[in-house]
Amino acid sequence: MIEEAKTCTNCELSKTRTNVVIGKGREDAEILLIGEAPGRNEDEQGLPFVGAAGKNLDKFLSVIGLSSEDVYIANILKCRPPENRDPKPDEIKICTPWLIKQIEHIKPRVICTLGNYSTKFILSKCDPDHMKSIGGISALHGKVVTVVINQTEYKVIPLYHPAALIYNRSLQSQMDEDLITVKKTVEKYTGTPLAKQKSLSEF
Ligand code: URA
Repeated sequence: MIEEAKTCTNCELSKTRTNVVIGKGREDAEILLIGEAPGRNEDEQGLPFVGAAGKNLDKFLSVIGLSSEDVYIANILKCRPPENRDPKPDEIKICTPWLIKQIEHIKPRVICTLGNYSTKFILSKCDPDHMKSIGGISALHGKVVTVVINQTEYKVIPLYHPAALIYNRSLQSQMDEDLITVKKTVEKYTGTPLAKQKSLSEF
């Protein structure tokens, strides 16, 4: 789909990456999850969310009866920032046209943004210059927001980044509640009932 991205040299991150991490999952998925950027494991394997954060993301999906094969998973940045530092504004500007192509190709009904960067990017209607005006994830998580991107409407639900739950277990009950919202929203906008909701503590 965005095969040219595999050889992208548009920014400095191309000099230090091992692999471009484009995404994984179904290209006709109803649900798109967007993280931040590849880490060490993702850079080595060329796939998103294969490390510790990926284990938590799999748990989030299990809570609502899904697996990573039922959804599509991508990131804001396709290449690993050295030492996992935060994405820089110019990297976001240069890299996100790939993500916009993915969104337009997949046309998901529901987009779950994982953490601050993808939430700010999507809620700014994919305008990196307006990301600063969007609130943080602790204010926005679990809310359903309608966003129009290039004339198509998406239901967007910001969620805590799965890595945040590694360090802060107290977010688990908020995450359970946010996943109830994800399940209800997916069922409403896809017309497909999901399995009975579980709790993160069961995984
Ligand atoms: N964190 C992310 O945001 N994305 C990944 O692919 C892995 C960890």
